[in-house]
Amino acid sequence: MLHMTRTRPAHRKLFRFATAFSAGLSLVLTSGCKLAEVFSLSGPQSTMVTAGPVAKAQWDLFMVTVYVTTFIFVVVGAVLAYTQIKFRARSEAAEKSEPPPQGHGNPLIEIGLIAASVALLVIIAIPTVRDIWYTHDVPEAEKGNALDVTATGYQWWFRFEYPTELVKLPTGGEAPLVTGNELVVPAGRPVRVHLRTIDVIHSFWIPKLAGKVDMMPNRDNFLWFKADRPGYFYGQCAEYCGESHAIMRFRVIALEPADYDKWLANQKQPARSVTAKSLAVAAATPRVQFASLQLDDGRALASSPDFDANPLAAWKKMQEVEKDEDPALVATGRKLFSEKTCVSCHTVRGHEGIGITGPDLTRVGARSTIAAGVLENTKERVSQWLHDPVHFKPGNKMYFGGYMVAEGAGDDVKWKQNFTLNDPEINALVSYLHSLK
Ligand code: CUA
Repeated sequence: MLHMTRTRPAHRKLFRFATAFSAGLSLVLTSGCKLAEVFSLSGPQSTMVTAGPVAKAQWDLFMVTVYVTTFIFVVVGAVLAYTQIKFRARSEAAEKSEPPPQGHGNPLIEIGLIAASVALLVIIAIPTVRDIWYTHDVPEAEKGNALDVTATGYQWWFRFEYPTELVKLPTGGEAPLVTGNELVVPAGRPVRVHLRTIDVIHSFWIPKLAGKVDMMPNRDNFLWFKADRPGYFYGQCAEYCGESHAIMRFRVIALEPADYDKWLANQKQPARSVTAKSLAVAAATPRVQFASLQLDDGRALASSPDFDANPLAAWKKMQEVEKDEDPALVATGRKLFSEKTCVSCHTVRGHEGIGITGPDLTRVGARSTIAAGVLENTKERVSQWLHDPVHFKPGNKMYFGGYMVAEGAGDDVKWKQNFTLNDPEINALVSYLHSLK
């Protein structure tokens, strides 16, 4: 009877586990994850499918630890199992009898076990120390060829600056090239990333290339990486930094050296200007109506199948000027960009925008994502973002500080509408932003 009552909850537990497991599995299978990706652990943010020497070194070191600990587990487990079986009590009397004399003070066993533990730790320590040096800075032989980049974390996006690539400012003088959320680098060349933050601690992580290293206030941290070949890599902030931490993402786009040079030459030009004979009538019905303004339920942030199939090709396509560009609409958007005070937070080099609170938008139309890697940079997504930024990125400063302004402070703070955007205005702004290639 006793056994019966004990087994029932165990069955129930098993049933509950099976239910939870199958629910979890069906969630994985229906959430857009590809089955092969799940089992090969090769998703876009996999640390196991590496694409550069730093990530490879980190992965290899991890595997050394796995091999050593697996070896210890098997040996200790085997000894334990052997003694459990060999010395088990075989009768009622044996169970109740005094245990046999216990051994201790065997120098051979004790020194042997200490030596074995030390040896195993040394096996882990040697590659660990070697990789600490290796990942710390670009190897001496490649130093001359390294590209320096400064990455700065903001709540919640990344600013990238190329200190050695100077651009002429419209106001005269020169300044380093600045971009946001998409770091473009040449493949096959080491990149040394100086890590800074403007506010709280963030952490810089490109799982397939390198990481993660914290971006600390008042401290210059850095890491380096190299992409073995051209590719499109997913990056992620890896240190909790507030409401939108989990969606503080970025991309690294590694290009063939010639493509990179072409990209760089274009980046150094002032923002692209579109000439228009007249403005679009602001109140006119948008030429393209987006179903978009009804937001997805929840935060289904799926990107298009084309993008998923080949993100690097999708990124390259973004570099081209759109065929259906409407100059009047672009010009209207540019005017609205000033009128709605976007200019006070965003730079569009050569145009009116001079702000530095938000990402540099000089070439935002050529990026594959917006909102720090959360949304694919389609017209529909940009209009959704402008319509309700706080829906996609809770707590973001474009909404709290741009669309809304604070009155009072602390617990008494009240948010008041600063400006609104109607559908035709959003439509014009989207055209302007997408013209910035
Ligand atoms: Cu930035 Cu988490």
